[in-house]
Formats: sequence, C-alpha cells, structure tokens
Amino acid sequence: MRLILVGPPGAGKGTQAVHLAAHFNIPHISTGDIFRANIKGGTELGKLAASYSDKGQLVPDSVTNEMVKDRLNQSDLENGFLLDGYPRNILQAEVLRAILAEKETPLDAVLELSLEDSVIVERLSGRRTCKDCQASFHILFEKPAVEGKCDKCGGDLYQRTDDGVDVIQSRLTVYADQTKPIIAFYRAEGLLITTPAEGDVSEITERAISALNAAVS
Ligand code: AP5
Ligand code: MG
Repeated sequence: MRLILVGPPGAGKGTQAVHLAAHFNIPHISTGDIFRANIKGGTELGKLAASYSDKGQLVPDSVTNEMVKDRLNQSDLENGFLLDGYPRNILQAEVLRAILAEKETPLDAVLELSLEDSVIVERLSGRRTCKDCQASFHILFEKPAVEGKCDKCGGDLYQRTDDGVDVIQSRLTVYADQTKPIIAFYRAEGLLITTPAEGDVSEITERAISALNAAVS
C-alpha cells in the first residue's frame, strides 16, 4: 500500500496515520515530524524549518523534496509507505510522481480527511504533543492517562509553537491556497478517496480502511 494522507491542519492525519500504518504494516513518514525532530535536535535543517513552521508557512520545496527523496530511498519500504503532510503543493506532487516513476512504485491511493475550520481550531488549540515520540493528545478529546505525560513512551507533552490561534489561521490560509489544489490533481489521476474526519478516532480509522480496501481491490 503506497498511500498519501492529505487534509487541513488538525484534521487528524497524524492520529489516523498511526493506526493505518499499523494496519497495513507500512512506515509512517511525516514531514512535519521529521522537521520537528530536527528542531529538537538543533540541526541546521531544524533551524531553517523552524523559521518557516513557527509562522505557519511551508518550508521551501527544494529542502522538503530532497528530504523526502532521501527517505523514500531507504530500504524499509518493501510493503509501501504512508506519507503524512507531503506533498503540500502541486510542485511537490509532481516531484513525488517523478521519484515514484523512477522507482516504478506508483501510488495506490490518496486519502483526504475533510473537516470544518471551526472543529480544526478546537482540535489544534487543545492538542498536546510528545516531545520524544511526537504522539498527539488532546486536553479534552484524547486525554493522556497521566496529565502532561505521553501514554506511549512517558515523554513530556508540550504545545506546538504553531498551535497558537494566530498561527493556526495562517496554516489554514496556506492550506487553502497551496495545498488544496493537490486534491483536484489526485482526483484527476483517479486516486482520491475522501473520508469525513468527524467522529471517534476508531470510527474514522474503520471508515478509512474500508474505503482504501475497496479502492485498491
Ligand atoms: P505538519 O506537522 O504536517 O502539520 P499540519 O498539516 O498543520 O497538521 P497537524 O500535524 O497540525 O494536524 P494533523 O492532521 O496531523 O492532526 P492530529 O492527528 O495531530 O506540518 C507542520 C509544519 O511543518 C508546516 O506548517 C510546515 O511549516 C512544515 N511542513 C511539513 N510538511 C511540509 C511540506 N510537505 N512542505 C513544506 N513544509 C512542510 O490531530 C489534531 C488534534 O486533534 C490532536 O490533539 C488529536 O488528539 C485530536 N484529534 C484527532 N482526531 C480526533 C477525533 N476524531 N476526535 C477528536 N479529536 C481528535
Ligand atoms: Mg500531524
């Protein structure tokens, strides 16, 4: 299964990616997580990424495309992959198509998670993220067993710099202007599946798995 998850910030891409990657036994590749790991590690890539992500803007394509190309050339992708947060604009979608064409491993499906802006703001402003493993929690909807600690690895939870209300608005604008056009791009390729991202996490996962199985069978 070679799969892309697309949807607005806070639609639940990271949350669903964990379950879908486990179900299909494929690596979860999140460009946002890779940038945040670099920010935490204080690398040059992290410093550059933070200068964009803190404002809700996209990291330049040249940097992001190179990073994804390296990741897709690693040797753990024999079952496929789940890309979360990439591609984010038409140029990235075209670069990805070229990378995969060269490897003769085309995409199987693009899963769009759709959600209204008002719900997005509620989800993002209450999100807490693990400093160590980047798992997502929510102060109301996905509470950790111990406040401030990650259920999965025990790491400390923090609020992402880009989860402040002003930056959320910028991210929504960037999504509408730059990312949404890739929906039509993949619809035209016959790869798009759209799933509403409202309801319980497990309900959404089941809907997504059924839709994906139907699409690739
Ligand atoms: P990235 O990390 O990809 O951020 P994003 O697209 O804004 O998406 P989020 O991670 O905020 O949301 P999500 O959909 O994963 O939601 P989640 O599952 O956490 O990118 C960050 C930045 O990195 C970008 O702004 C950019 O600067 C840079 N970047 C990354 N990729 C790039 C690229 N390709 N090109 C250029 N720059 C790039 O859920 C949100 C919250 O809701 C959580 O609290 C969760 O617990 C809760 N929740 C989830 N599902 C449910 C549910 N069903 N019910 C109730 N609550 C729920
Ligand atoms: Mg995410």
